[in-house]
Amino acid sequence: MATSAKPDTDRPTALITGASRGLGAAIARELAPAHQLLLGARTPQALEPMLRELPGSAGWPVDLTDYDAVARAAAGIERLDVLVHNAGIADLGTIADSSVAQWRNTLEANLIAVAELTRLLLPALRAANGHVVLINSGAGLRANPGWGAYAASKFGLRAFGDALRLEEPALRVTSVHPGRIGTDMQREIIAGEGRAYDPDEFLTAETVARVVRNAVETPRDAHPTEIVLRPIAR
Ligand SMILES: NC(=O)c1ccc[n+]([C@@H]2O[C@H](COP(=O)([O-])OP(=O)(O)OC[C@H]3O[C@@H](n4cnc5c(N)ncnc54)[C@H](OP(=O)(O)O)[C@@H]3O)[C@@H](O)[C@H]2O)c1
Repeated sequence: MATSAKPDTDRPTALITGASRGLGAAIARELAPAHQLLLGARTPQALEPMLRELPGSAGWPVDLTDYDAVARAAAGIERLDVLVHNAGIADLGTIADSSVAQWRNTLEANLIAVAELTRLLLPALRAANGHVVLINSGAGLRANPGWGAYAASKFGLRAFGDALRLEEPALRVTSVHPGRIGTDMQREIIAGEGRAYDPDEFLTAETVARVVRNAVETPRDAHPTEIVLRPIAR
């Protein structure tokens, strides 16, 4: 693990996957003032800018679909207050055009990897009566043409969250369903749709990150179970 500072044991610990850019980086900025952060991405290099920007944080580089490596990376975490499952992929296509590899890769990254990382970290989460935040999508509530595999992965993620909430009543489990956000992922999607990218069409990562922080900071007498966010109509 590429640690850039010694852990501050007085502050709650939060692990954010996919924190190298996009929404995950924005969530890291929001949680940084009150948390000791572990920042996930596939490689140490991808995390360098965020570790420079948030010098109290530590890198947690691992490919979340390499389960032996994930088990090794999770082994040192004994107590975890907040786990934000943010890493995800969008490999879009119609059902007619989607290959088995596309379905497998999407379900693997967006659903199976989340289940396995949660399983590995359950003892650490239980030790802290922790909070699991699942970054889902509007596509986890309704499936549009061309989004079959992605929507299936996010519908599955919602079911995973529902089951986890009932099986682990000491934990809080929040499913966040944003509409389109202006990130690298969205730029690629818009390019694939053959349209010009207009940031005003989308939620900002900063706004969605603020909502995640509000969920995490919700007083303990409440359990924010599902949050749906859409861009304002302009
Ligand atoms: N953008 C949107 O419009 C939108 C809307 C609703 C929901 N969401 C959801 O929001 C989340 C973040 O999306 P984003 O737009 O910020 O995406 P993004 O800009 O494409 O960033 C994806 C992040 O996930 C990491 N990642 C992907 N696969 C990984 C793997 N196998 N192992 C480890 N890390 C991996 C990437 O790390 P590397 O830097 O190492 O590649 C990167 O940090 C996703 O779950 C997405 O489905 C996005």
